[in-house]
Amino acid sequence: MRRKLIAGNWKMNASKVQCEALISALLQNIPHSGGADMAVCVPYPYLAQVESALRDATIRLGAQDVSEHDKGAYTGEVSGAMLADFSCKYVIVGHSERRSYYGDSDEVVALKFLAAKRAGLIPILCLGETLEERERGVTRDILKRQLDAVFDRVSIAEFAGAVVAYEPVWAIGTGKTATPEQAQDAHAFIRDQLRLKSATVAAETQILYGGSMKASNARELLVQPDIDGGLIGGASLIADDFIAIATAA
Ligand code: PGA
Repeated sequence: MRRKLIAGNWKMNASKVQCEALISALLQNIPHSGGADMAVCVPYPYLAQVESALRDATIRLGAQDVSEHDKGAYTGEVSGAMLADFSCKYVIVGHSERRSYYGDSDEVVALKFLAAKRAGLIPILCLGETLEERERGVTRDILKRQLDAVFDRVSIAEFAGAVVAYEPVWAIGTGKTATPEQAQDAHAFIRDQLRLKSATVAAETQILYGGSMKASNARELLVQPDIDGGLIGGASLIADDFIAIATAA
């Protein structure tokens, strides 16, 4: 039985004051059922602050990107070891905003995935099609291409333990959520692709849904058999909403 994971992706939002308010509101209202794991992926400058605020808490810390390199002359980059140094457990790799605005190619995403693994972090590998690709009927081809690019460099043994997030680009930050059927279909396809490599890894990999998940639609998505949690952008910035999603999980 896979545990559910509800991970917040704060993107480039927050200030020291907001971090303090949000984390303390989360800690006061965290569901005690023990049903779902929770994590927040915060901007780099706030890692230290959130690390210390989450000390002894069950909410885990994550980052939103990682360098494909381990150290050296890469101005502006942040390594996996640095993230691990701040007690990060998770790191998002291949978010569609990185892919489309910062040129993270499928190959770079695979290298970042490996860098995360080398540092002992759990990569949250994002996959997803654009609206144009969905309308052309090539959603599965896109998901397969993005996944295959990782498996060009990463063995299934190295992949084990990673998290996948299916994030249809047209649903991110648009208020337009995939229907539970659309999401389940994509998740089942991703799991089938993993099963071609290893039945065990396929059965154990958490596949999160991301794209305008909110309190009002979380439950219908999270009851789908292959949806193991959510990667939450906008709604993770509002403590009540994020808690409501975790409660639904
Ligand atoms: P959203 O973002 O929940 O605001 O749509 C999700 C994401 O981009 O991870």
